[in-house]
Amino acid sequence: MGALPQELIAKKRDGGTLAAEEIGQLVTGMTDGSVTDAQISAFAMAVFFRGMAMDERVALTLAMRDSGDVLDWSHLDGPALDKHSTGGVGDNLSLMLAPIVAACGGFVPMISGRGLGHTGGTLDKMDSIPGYQTQPDNETFRSVTESCGCAVIGQTAALAPADKRFYGIRDVTATVESIDLITASILSKKLAAGLDGLVLDVKSGSGAFMPTHEDSEALASSLVSVANGAGTRTSALLTDMNEVLGHVAGNAVEVATAVEFLTGAAQDARVREVTLALCAQMLVLGGLADKDTALAKVSDALDSGRAAERFAAMVTALGGPAHFVERYQTYLAVPEIEIAVPAPTSGTVAVMDTRQIGLAVVALGGGRTNPADPIDHAVGLTHIVSLGDRVEAGDPLARVLARTQADADAAASRVTAAITIGDAPAPAPAIYSQIDPTGAP
Ligand code: URA
Repeated sequence: MGALPQELIAKKRDGGTLAAEEIGQLVTGMTDGSVTDAQISAFAMAVFFRGMAMDERVALTLAMRDSGDVLDWSHLDGPALDKHSTGGVGDNLSLMLAPIVAACGGFVPMISGRGLGHTGGTLDKMDSIPGYQTQPDNETFRSVTESCGCAVIGQTAALAPADKRFYGIRDVTATVESIDLITASILSKKLAAGLDGLVLDVKSGSGAFMPTHEDSEALASSLVSVANGAGTRTSALLTDMNEVLGHVAGNAVEVATAVEFLTGAAQDARVREVTLALCAQMLVLGGLADKDTALAKVSDALDSGRAAERFAAMVTALGGPAHFVERYQTYLAVPEIEIAVPAPTSGTVAVMDTRQIGLAVVALGGGRTNPADPIDHAVGLTHIVSLGDRVEAGDPLARVLARTQADADAAASRVTAAITIGDAPAPAPAIYSQIDPTGAP
């Protein structure tokens, strides 16, 4: 018999380093219920203050990954690759990235999450498509990934159940904000998908999950080190979230812009830059291209229309309409009310509190304040201005799609308050830096 949970908690409380077996014992107890909520929260707080060495983070990640199903894609004739974003506003990159990589020979079994706080979730966006099944059985998930090259679905309870319990307790005990625990939480779920390569899109800025650029950098480097230490080739891009990515935020509206991006009908330059850079990283990690050719390969997959075909095939294979890409506007819900948000003064869009823009979407009903809440896929914001845009008083800063006039007016006030008009901001890059795999197998 191993040590009692309280002995392991005391070891961490006193600044000790836990062995992989000791961490494994705690995680087993989280999964089978033999470690209590009180013990888990005390352990989380001990880690919050004492931190974890790299070996401990790897051990926690692996133990939580192995607490449930771990998928195996070794039968596929190409690498299984995925991307994880730490969350943003208007960040619909997954919808474009999965079919682009699929069109280049990769397989993208993407297990995505619901919106968290002010950020949107890929799963909620896909749920905007009528008939599309985000919770298929394992066999359907496998066969769609194999035949279309990608399948964007939702998380099941069988993946990393220890994290589900641990995160639920951290959420109510002020212990979410630990880079060690965030690293293990994010990676345990992603690595349970049995990937050969993973790229991380770590956001920095006013709409990012981490409060400062330094924290985002620290999280990115922790994620890259731990994922590679756990045996999955992983790199990261640190990307800008000081403004909405693209010009829309919501669920159906982000699906619409994803389709327009894939077909070439409309492409925002920053969205294109970040999407293709992440796709190129995935090809390199999966051995499908080298650093010099990857960008040309992913650009061709997009511009030739092959990625749009993959997306269309995936939507149909998972139960969505047969001609969704051609007729997306007839399938995506649109609410009754649409209003413009007028700029209060003339000038340049200088600062955007992107988090507040995300919260405006949540308040419209496009996100949740309670994990069990239903959401309204139709509402959201469109035509959102970008930093550096010149506006005259009365020009629209955005358009609001809402169910009621009162909701629309409240969202408009929030958007007005979130956008500062003044002097031109220093231009920020869409991509700040790249962190290559460290000590990769
Ligand atoms: N997202 C996760 O999945 N886990 C965390 O701990 C924080 C954000």
